Parts: sequence; structure tokens; C-alpha cells
Amino acid sequence: MSAITVRKIRFAFDPLDLDLPPDSLGRILGALGLSMTMPYLEPYLIRTMKLALKQIHDPALASDVRAFSQQESHHYRNHAVFNDRLRACFEPAAAAELRAIEDALEADYQRFTHEKSLRFNVAYAEGFEAMTCAGALAMAEHGAFEAGMLPGGDLWAWHMAEEIEHRTVAFNVFEHLVGSYPYRIVFGTWAQIHYVRYIGRFQRCMARALGVPLVQTTDPMARSALRRYLKTWSPRYDPAKIEIPAGVEALLARFDAQAAAAAARA
Ligand SMILES: [Fe+2]
Ligand SMILES: [Fe+2]
Repeated sequence: MSAITVRKIRFAFDPLDLDLPPDSLGRILGALGLSMTMPYLEPYLIRTMKLALKQIHDPALASDVRAFSQQESHHYRNHAVFNDRLRACFEPAAAAELRAIEDALEADYQRFTHEKSLRFNVAYAEGFEAMTCAGALAMAEHGAFEAGMLPGGDLWAWHMAEEIEHRTVAFNVFEHLVGSYPYRIVFGTWAQIHYVRYIGRFQRCMARALGVPLVQTTDPMARSALRRYLKTWSPRYDPAKIEIPAGVEALLARFDAQAAAAAARA
């Protein structure tokens, strides 16, 4: 049985208010762009893991993969609702532009599932997971979960804490099925560039529509994320060895309780 806990949580999002100072708004567009990718990226990861499972004969890893996929499934369902609220903040023309980017991303991921090799898709999954885990760890280290700096309430704390919790799964699947350091670096980096370009497209579209500048942050949290990301390039990188920042365990315990309360109500 996996040590990864599946927490079925559904957030009730209020209508979103993007009436923030332009600089503050410009600073969060990257995170909003990330949210926009989730209903396409996470189902693609789940499809990849479903195919990978057919070749995984280690019961412990298979159990982790199932828990990983269930966590990702709850993530994207919440992000899809949040994204509906986000799209509703835009005029119809800008909302349609956002939809067009979403459609292009979905088309890419469907093509990857149907036309690319499993080793490519597993490397994509690990490239994405390694990069987001670096960002989530930096957020945890700098208390960003508690600060409420992003709209959507606990969505981000819950999602990022679970990304940290399941950080070893895509890496272990990659090592189990592919196990090539150069392949991880080449295709993992390709995946990160492919993914980050879509974030950029969402960011620029929203910035144009809202008339705000794109703000690149170089604060200590961004520097920590970069430092942690660069460590993933090491041939000795292993997410199992990462020291988890204080507070993540308590956060997961809080969401354990929230999921249990939701299950009791259902
Ligand atoms: Fe996720
Ligand atoms: Fe993940």
C-alpha cells in the first residue's frame, strides 16, 4: 500500500476578483497560467501512468502510481472550476483567446499520448514533476502557502503540498522503465520548455487583456526555486533525498482532516 494519501477535496470558489494593483496582478499571472494548463497536463500525466502501469511489475511502485494518478485527478478537477471563474473575468474575445490556447495544449497532449513513445511521455512527466516540485518546495520554504498571495484560497497549498508528497513517483517510474540520465535531461528539459512556453502564452494573453505588465520576480523564493530546479540536472538527483521544508507535514495533516470531513458529509 502506498504512503501517498489521496484526499478528495472540492473547493467552493467564489467569483474571482482580479481588481488588484497592476504590479501585483502582473506578478500572479504565471500562477494563473499554470492553473490554466492543469485540466490538460494532469489528464495527460494520468494517461501516461496508465500505460506505464502495464509495464511496472514492482507492486510498491504500482501502488504509488495509482495514488499519484488519483491525486492528479482531484487536482485538475478543482483547477477546471477555478479556471471557469478565471475565464469569466475576461471579455468574450479574450476568453476565446484563452480557450484557443487551451485547445492547442490539449491537442499537443493528445498527440503525445497517441504518437510518442512511452519513454518520451514518462520523461515528460518526470521533467514536469521535477520542475513543479522545485517550485512547490520553494513556496513551502518561504511560507507562500499561508500568505494567501494567490486567488483560489487553499487550492494552491493543497495542490503544491501533494506535489511534494508524490515527488518520487514520476522519477521512480522513469528510472524503472527508462533509467537513462541523458534521456531524462534531454527530453525532461524539452518537456519543461514546451510546458513553460504555454504558461507564457497564457500569461501574455491575460496581461494584454487586463492591460497589466508582466512582472518577472527575482525575490528569494524565485531564487530558491531556480536553485532547487538546477539541482534536478545532477546525475545524483533523487527526489527521495530532498529535505522537506517545515510545515508541509502539518499542511498535509490539515488536508487529511478536511478530506475526512468531506467524506463524512457525503
Ligand atoms: Fe497535480
Ligand atoms: Fe504531480
